[in-house]
Amino acid sequence: MEQLLVSGEKKLDGAVTVHGAKNSALPILAAAILVKGECIIHNCPRLSDVLEAINILKGLGCKAELEGNTAVVDASTISGYSIDEQTMRSMRSSIIFLGALVSRMGIAQVYYPGGCEIGTRPVDLHINSLRSMGVTVEEKGSAICCKADKIYGTKIILPFPSVGATENIIIASVMAKGRTTIINAAREPEISDLADFLNHCGARIYGAGEGTIEIEGVLSLHPAQHDVIPDRIVVSTYMAAAAITGSTVTVNNVVPTHVAPVFPAFNQMGCRIYLSGSSLKLEAPRRLKRISTIKTMPYPGFPTDSQPIIAAVLCKAKGTSVIQENIFENRFRYISELKRFGTDIEVNDNLAVINGVKEFHAANVNATDLRGGAALVIASLAADGISRVNCVNYIDRGYESIEKSLSQIGADIKRITYEKQKDE
Ligand code: UD1
Repeated sequence: MEQLLVSGEKKLDGAVTVHGAKNSALPILAAAILVKGECIIHNCPRLSDVLEAINILKGLGCKAELEGNTAVVDASTISGYSIDEQTMRSMRSSIIFLGALVSRMGIAQVYYPGGCEIGTRPVDLHINSLRSMGVTVEEKGSAICCKADKIYGTKIILPFPSVGATENIIIASVMAKGRTTIINAAREPEISDLADFLNHCGARIYGAGEGTIEIEGVLSLHPAQHDVIPDRIVVSTYMAAAAITGSTVTVNNVVPTHVAPVFPAFNQMGCRIYLSGSSLKLEAPRRLKRISTIKTMPYPGFPTDSQPIIAAVLCKAKGTSVIQENIFENRFRYISELKRFGTDIEVNDNLAVINGVKEFHAANVNATDLRGGAALVIASLAADGISRVNCVNYIDRGYESIEKSLSQIGADIKRITYEKQKDE
């Protein structure tokens, strides 16, 4: 078992560089299935979910390797069209392979992605969209089987701008017959990154990053190279680390517009943000101030993935702050763990009311999910004494050695391996 051991109340200082975005890399790796030839994807984060995606590609008969931070994928040799249930459950974003497989192979056999971590995460929007493009979808228990001799472009109106559904539609439509229009498409930067990769390969996707996306089907795609965008949620995590410790930290490899939705919250807390090219410096005040309500919304709103991270920081701000979670119905599970630091939070449905406290006490806590786990690490940085964060595997899904990055800016944090006791 692995655990993060954090000795808190250390001032941070210096600079840290952000790795590539997990939520871009995963759909891009899936989209590489459409290309007959070698695609080279740079700035690919070495994360457990990315390695799982590489394994899925290999299992389908593609050549796929992650060398350092460069993924090389050649789908010329693809022969499979199914992904087993255990693999599908291990990574929720595995559903993104659906559109790619049905487009390339004419058939896809997958399963519902796994359990409840931050919400039920249904895939009805993905399935309904594929159906409207002429794909036959059969659901038997947890199995989903898609078949299509030909995929047809059409107009799809999404009732909610789902990131995953928008990605699946884009991937399924780039080689469809005719034009696909997505109305109320997700506008997250990761959507634009996927479209950029596919356009480098010869796709004709227009308007990615806006509410309406048009895709003109092409006959084939050619290999290309692509640089994955920096991970905006990781940026907000290091900003939070600086804020909660009252420090000044520089974050490199940042696209400021991608992170802008979290700036007002940090500014309201009294932090100063200085931008210079792709670097961001956050200077925290001695005592953070409360904020008015934060509401998580689809991009360009406040990102739900940064919600737990900012909540940890607000626990140390003077006064009462409120967070409204509007994207996932079960995204406050981490709060019971966060309370172990002596924080004062009340949850009522999708509202968290946070009364700031002056001091955090060291705690032994369990990560409940990826970003909730990151929030516990952030809280540990501000706690007196040594805190222990367990279930590090969740955190490893989205951070390349979080302990190394935080150590680089002066945090006292290390990863230890220990034997699991029988009564644990
Ligand atoms: C992606 C991100 C995740 C982020 C989320 C919202 C990846 C790998 N994950 O997740 O980190 O938190 O966007 O920014 O990119 N919904 C349905 N039916 C569907 C699909 C979604 O009801 O078919 C609902 C979901 O339950 C949720 C909301 O729509 O309440 C948002 O989901 P979605 O935007 O699809 O998120 P993901 O793509 O799963």
